[in-house]
Amino acid sequence: MGRDPSSAALSLRPMAKIRSSHVCQTCGHVAMAWTGKCPGCGEWNTLVETVRRPPAKSAGGRSAGAGAATTAAARPVKLREVTSVQVSRLATGIGELDRVLGGGIVPGSLILLGGSPGIGKSTITGMAMANLQAGGAGTLYVSGEESASQVRLRAERLGPEALDVRVLAENSLETILATVEAESPSVVVIDSIQTVHSADLSGTPGSVGQVREAANRLAEAAKRLDVAMILVGHVTKEGSLAGPRVLEHLVDCVLQFDGEKERTYRTLRAVKNRFGATSEVGVFEMRSGGLTEVTDPSARFVEEASGATGSVVLASMEGTRPVLVEVQALVNPSELEIPRRVVNGIDRNRLSMVLAVLARHGGVGLGTSDVFVSVVGGVRIDEPGGDLAVALAVVSAQRGRPAAGRSGRPLACFGELGLTGDLRYVGHADRRVAEAVKFGLDPVVGPPSGERLAGLAPCSDVRQALKAAFATSPQGAVA
Ligand code: TYD
Ligand code: MG
Repeated sequence: MGRDPSSAALSLRPMAKIRSSHVCQTCGHVAMAWTGKCPGCGEWNTLVETVRRPPAKSAGGRSAGAGAATTAAARPVKLREVTSVQVSRLATGIGELDRVLGGGIVPGSLILLGGSPGIGKSTITGMAMANLQAGGAGTLYVSGEESASQVRLRAERLGPEALDVRVLAENSLETILATVEAESPSVVVIDSIQTVHSADLSGTPGSVGQVREAANRLAEAAKRLDVAMILVGHVTKEGSLAGPRVLEHLVDCVLQFDGEKERTYRTLRAVKNRFGATSEVGVFEMRSGGLTEVTDPSARFVEEASGATGSVVLASMEGTRPVLVEVQALVNPSELEIPRRVVNGIDRNRLSMVLAVLARHGGVGLGTSDVFVSVVGGVRIDEPGGDLAVALAVVSAQRGRPAAGRSGRPLACFGELGLTGDLRYVGHADRRVAEAVKFGLDPVVGPPSGERLAGLAPCSDVRQALKAAFATSPQGAVA
């Protein structure tokens, strides 16, 4: 946008071969001059000067405008006439990863794996590559962050097969591309895309210009050579992939690796997937021998749920799979002018909303209390169906008495809170209830459902839900 007039002005100067532009490190917006605020996304101090190469003459006459008249038109075909290819996917041998990918890696596809440092990106890619190599697929692990011996140290922890993966400690994009061409592996890991550096650009590694250039040329090579590539990317403090959102458009699949470094649970979700469903979530645990799959996360989390004061179990949906997670709250008189609202695993604004609904429609005022809410196990709840669990955990903490589950078991619940205090329907009520019933956590407090669900204690608003959770004496809860 707005690029044509300025580039036309620049092209009047015959000497301007290498031009620099200012690229926003957040949104990738290209500006001709530096400004404090990015015109694209409105962020401050994100524009970084990046050298752009002059448009390549050899780019097949794709230069805009001038060449258009001489370029022969292509013939579009009906979709029916396009030959459909049966993609045989490469199984990584890690069930949860394959499931999130939609059944394995599609040959020639580009996968972006994002996550904060230390979360286990190198570990999971190392494990996947070991399995692929053992299964007969050629692999290449390009490490720009660690030396080959450091990669070996990790591989030793992962098992003997991991040592068969071929490794290349390299930062130069040109060398990497030449090696991929010469070795023609089936799967390549670039760990990480932010360390890859092209000699054609003078920007520092990790700058938007460099990352975009590297990703573009790797993508081109991936399609041309039919090599699947996993690009490992860092995320910023805010949780977005550092720098280039542009990358997300370029790749076929974006995987997000979440969890807390200090905790052992990790969740892997597909944010975008051209070859499968998004919102599918894999759960892992970091152990001494690498990541192990948690195929039945509900069992783990319910086992850990205590049913204590301030704790309830949320019947949540992670993609197409119901998962029971424990939500804990702590409420304490505040010594501060503005009481604290501290969250872990849920959105802070969501907590504010739930507290406002509780105050207005549930008769529970917490204006002078600090409120802490945490989802146990490092799980993140991104769905509105978590509202009621947050509300009940907070009220339980405030009243100093446990929510009444059946015979001492924790109380299970789900549902979205509307601003009018109504408890709203959320998707897959049947599967949520069934999962809770499976673990003996019925009746489940939730919104009324169209069909009658065995094990559901339907409540139409927050008052009713509070009654259901606290009116009966907590029979089983040992005082
Ligand atoms: P790593 O994969 O290097 O993280 P990333 O590439 O995302 O930065 O692994 C991070 C942590 O995992 C590291 O602190 C050590 C730990 N770890 C284990 O606990 N067990 C293991 O078997 C391995 C390989 C790593
Ligand atoms: Mg790493």
